[in-house]
Amino acid sequence: MPRTVSSSPVRDLLALTARPEVISFAGGLPAPDLFDLDGMRAAFDRALTRRALQYASSEGDPDLRARVAERMIARGLPTPGEDLLVTTGSQQALTLVVTALLEPGAVVAVEEPTYLAALQAFRLAGARVVPVAGDEHGVDPAALAEVVERDRPTLLYLVPTFANPTGRTLTPERRAAIAALADRHGLWVVEDDPYGELRYRGEHVPALASMSGRVLHLGSFSKIGAPRLRLGWLRAPAELLRTLVVVKQAADLHTSTVDQAAAAAYLAANDLSAHVRALCAAYGERRDAMIAALPGTVPDGSRWTDPDGGTFVWVTLPGGVDAADVLAAALARDVAFVPGASFFATTPDPATMRLSFTTNTVERIAEGMRRLAGAWQ
Ligand SMILES: Cc1ncc(COP(=O)(O)O)c(C=O)c1O
Repeated sequence: MPRTVSSSPVRDLLALTARPEVISFAGGLPAPDLFDLDGMRAAFDRALTRRALQYASSEGDPDLRARVAERMIARGLPTPGEDLLVTTGSQQALTLVVTALLEPGAVVAVEEPTYLAALQAFRLAGARVVPVAGDEHGVDPAALAEVVERDRPTLLYLVPTFANPTGRTLTPERRAAIAALADRHGLWVVEDDPYGELRYRGEHVPALASMSGRVLHLGSFSKIGAPRLRLGWLRAPAELLRTLVVVKQAADLHTSTVDQAAAAAYLAANDLSAHVRALCAAYGERRDAMIAALPGTVPDGSRWTDPDGGTFVWVTLPGGVDAADVLAAALARDVAFVPGASFFATTPDPATMRLSFTTNTVERIAEGMRRLAGAWQ
């Protein structure tokens, strides 16, 4: 008997918002107008050699691994290229970790709310997902200590920097406390970090992986390059990396060698950090435009996060409003967002919603927020 699985409400919603007249704040999509199409085309042209068409090692293109490692070192995370596994997006890295570490019935601790597709991966593996209480500064280490004591989780899953869906960032002090706890209890921690480079204000926060050998750090080209490349990477301690490589072999032998070679060629010929700076300048303005429009858009008594980077603002509506009802009215006005309920591992809060500010220009954000304001009438 095949397992019963439910589809992702976010992916279902993306299908509804594909109509060109819809201004969508739903998906965490990078801005299509900011893709470096010419740079990518040139990189694929250079990459398309006979060698790039052949089978290759599961660990990934050595040139690409070395270049990714270099960028991680520049961001303060010491990383030899051998500690990296190239994956088909960071979503695959998550699946590999789940396969390598979780037996059915294993416990995974998560921040609540958290990334929906991670919850799906844990549930598909038959894991029991346990939420850890937190606040605007991320999960609370004292609450995590209680969960560790009571539920004995195998894994803690976090998006510590500019979280999906809330935009929150875990403070350096809490990172240090969580790293110490992981070391003490032999807890594995997944640091899922697709948004960390997209900072619009404030100071860089050190990666959790720089504080403990129990942390598996997941990175991605999706938000800083292009998501259809489907390229990500996983930095893991050597003994676990060996297992993950075998799991990767069983999953797909290796990630597309053509795409990997193109990414390596792109990094050789272009300054990706300069591209990221340009993204940050544009996204910072888009963030400000959405935050500025919120008081005139949502009902009095609403609250929202004020992210320093990333893609998302998380809104909590005043008592009794169900974001799913608002969505129906919003779609009728050709504007979309994601109701927050599906990001909860346990008890959903129907009064929450996630808005993405990166996909649309400042002008489209202003128009979309005007349409959304009408959805409450
Ligand atoms: C927290 C988080 N992890 C992972 C992913 C998946 O990224 P990728 O495109 O690298 O598979 C996303 C995509 O939105 C995300 O928000």
